[in-house]
Amino acid sequence: MKITVCLTNIKPEPWVDSLRALLPQADVSVWQPGSPVADHAVVWAPPQQFIDEQAGLKTLFNIGAGVDALLQLRLPPTLQVVRLDDAGMSVQMAEYVSHAVIRHFREFDAYERDVREGKWSYRKPNLRADFSVGVMGLGVLGARVAKTLQAFEFPVNGWSRSAKQLPGVQCFAGAQQLNAFLSSSRVLVNLLPLTPETENVLNQATLSQLPPHAYLINVARGRHLVEDDLLALLDSGHLVGATLDVFRTEPLPAGHAFWTHPKITVTPHTSARTLRDESVAQIAQKMLALEQGRTISGLVDPRTGY
Ligand code: NAP
Ligand code: GLV
Repeated sequence: MKITVCLTNIKPEPWVDSLRALLPQADVSVWQPGSPVADHAVVWAPPQQFIDEQAGLKTLFNIGAGVDALLQLRLPPTLQVVRLDDAGMSVQMAEYVSHAVIRHFREFDAYERDVREGKWSYRKPNLRADFSVGVMGLGVLGARVAKTLQAFEFPVNGWSRSAKQLPGVQCFAGAQQLNAFLSSSRVLVNLLPLTPETENVLNQATLSQLPPHAYLINVARGRHLVEDDLLALLDSGHLVGATLDVFRTEPLPAGHAFWTHPKITVTPHTSARTLRDESVAQIAQKMLALEQGRTISGLVDPRTGY
């Protein structure tokens, strides 16, 4: 089995070494223009030239959960795309989102400000029952986030494309139930994949459906959010704050309003990082399964784009 590794802005050598260690029978190398065609590829943001030259490749293993950037390329119809299937990401995402929800719910930012001013002050506790959290996307990451938030006894809603039943989660599905989902979610967490259907889904019309004083957490993709609509809703007071990990342009450009906005917390696309050891173990096991003619999870459906 021939494996090629093509990672933009990521050092490929540690990935090659780990793949060689787990698949000693495989021929693993770093892609260069003109490299022979491989059976499987491990990729992150490969150039179109890679796809064009590797005609005949069977599988592209993306080293992230989101495949939106990959699906922008012209891919041969026979090429299978496989996304990372958790591989240590869901626990990180659950940590990040729980942290953001609890920080907002418990008003820790306000307490920190008071303490910096030497003030020993109390705030009236918020009622958990008033802080229903709505998770958009109930896939690998969204389902884990929904489960973790329940452990803190927040009421949890979820929204997905197909109808679901998750224990303890009030589930909504499809465009028809979007407004009902939004209007019952005081904190909105976006964990949708970026597809033509979901681009700009966080906009003036949808965010206005949230109850007054709602809070937004966007951890999926920057292109889900219409930035000016968020700023307008923060100015009007309909939304009281946002935690944003992803942006339309990354890195977030210097001087962008989000950097210094008093109601926005920014992190640099770090909510759920790719962990190399877990990822290589998963990818190697899937390559072996494919070579043996077995089916694998995590195959991307080109019709839905995730
Ligand atoms: P996933 O397993 O593919 O789950 C996607 C979920 O979104 C599914 O529940 C799906 O519904 C739902 N969905 C898709 N299109 C929809 C639509 N049009 N309307 C309603 N629901 C829709 O994806 P995942 O692994 O949880 O990851 C989600 C996204 O998180 C990734 O695509 C990526 O963009 C982002 N991410 C961000 C970071 C970070 O560090 N910030 C890290 C990893 C991933 P069905 O269940 O009905 O199919
Ligand atoms: C990161 O954003 C990923 O999609 O894995």
